[in-house]
Amino acid sequence: MSADELTRHQEAFAAEAAEVRDRADWEALRVRWIGRKQGIVRSLLAQLKDVPKEEKRDFGQGVNRLKGTVEARLAELDEELSRTERSLAQEAAAVDVTLPGRHPHLGTLHPVNLVTQHIVDIFIGLGYSVAEGPEVEDDFHNFEALNFPQDHPARDTQDTLFLEDGRLLRTHTSPVQIRTMLKRQPPIRVICPGRVYRHDNDLRHSPMFHQVEGLAVGEGISLGDLKGTLEAFIHRLFSPDTGVRLRPSYFPFTEPSAEVDITCPFCRGDGCQTCSGTGWMEILGAGMVDPRVLENCNIDPSIYSGFAFGLGIDRVAMIRYGIPNIRMLFDNDERLLHQVRI
Ligand code: PHE
Repeated sequence: MSADELTRHQEAFAAEAAEVRDRADWEALRVRWIGRKQGIVRSLLAQLKDVPKEEKRDFGQGVNRLKGTVEARLAELDEELSRTERSLAQEAAAVDVTLPGRHPHLGTLHPVNLVTQHIVDIFIGLGYSVAEGPEVEDDFHNFEALNFPQDHPARDTQDTLFLEDGRLLRTHTSPVQIRTMLKRQPPIRVICPGRVYRHDNDLRHSPMFHQVEGLAVGEGISLGDLKGTLEAFIHRLFSPDTGVRLRPSYFPFTEPSAEVDITCPFCRGDGCQTCSGTGWMEILGAGMVDPRVLENCNIDPSIYSGFAFGLGIDRVAMIRYGIPNIRMLFDNDERLLHQVRI
């Protein structure tokens, strides 16, 4: 083979080798040049027998050199491809430690539950236990036994939602007092959180809301005990410097009755928009259990007396977390729920 011919083959091979991008290209190149059946090198060798005797030596050496070049370059390419394959595999398997971690989506307790738990905890600390009752009530437990006679105008203030069978959705947690007193004799100290319902719907009222009821019945329980208990409670729920004031009021089931105000937590008593400039905020209804209610529950009012109070939990949650609209509590928008921590 002439030097020219050898150079042409070598250049052709070099050009093809430069195009190799992957394993398949490499394999095709190998088969084309040094494949056992139809490889170029093999067919050149097959021509050797027809080459005139005096050229055989050069031709043979030329083919051998070509074969050497081809094999050496193929080995080099093989090494390069293996290196790329290895680093690709490593990249695919690698963990990028610079990526931000994935946070599991943690839930939180609902603001109403947080406040309920806090209130219940405070009363458990005062020796109370938790009592619960049904949300679907009858007239007796929700009204009659609580001294709301039939056709009494106080019933109208409760905006009752009735069921078709004459039962009703309890309008307050006070029926749990009745259920508790009907079941046990004094001394009684219970705290009763739960859902209540009224036909009422605006920025501050929702048809479903939450109350917590407190009841203490025993010998010699006085209005002073009620005030002391409420002060201890309010100081823990809000802050120890919160003022507490009782204003005379009316509930059919307590006598005397009071509305309980606290110094406005926003302006601390100076007067602001939230407390309508008064410096006070009403948060509770309370009073001494009416002797007739005790009688209705077979408790002798000549021996026992007691106090009761009821508080809106949603309102406390709104005050504590600065939530302006009661509906925001029940929309369950996670953006609000995640901001709330006790
Ligand atoms: N049940 C009354 C209400 O819902 C609140 C209350 C409870 C008042 C206990 C006095 C005693 O308005």
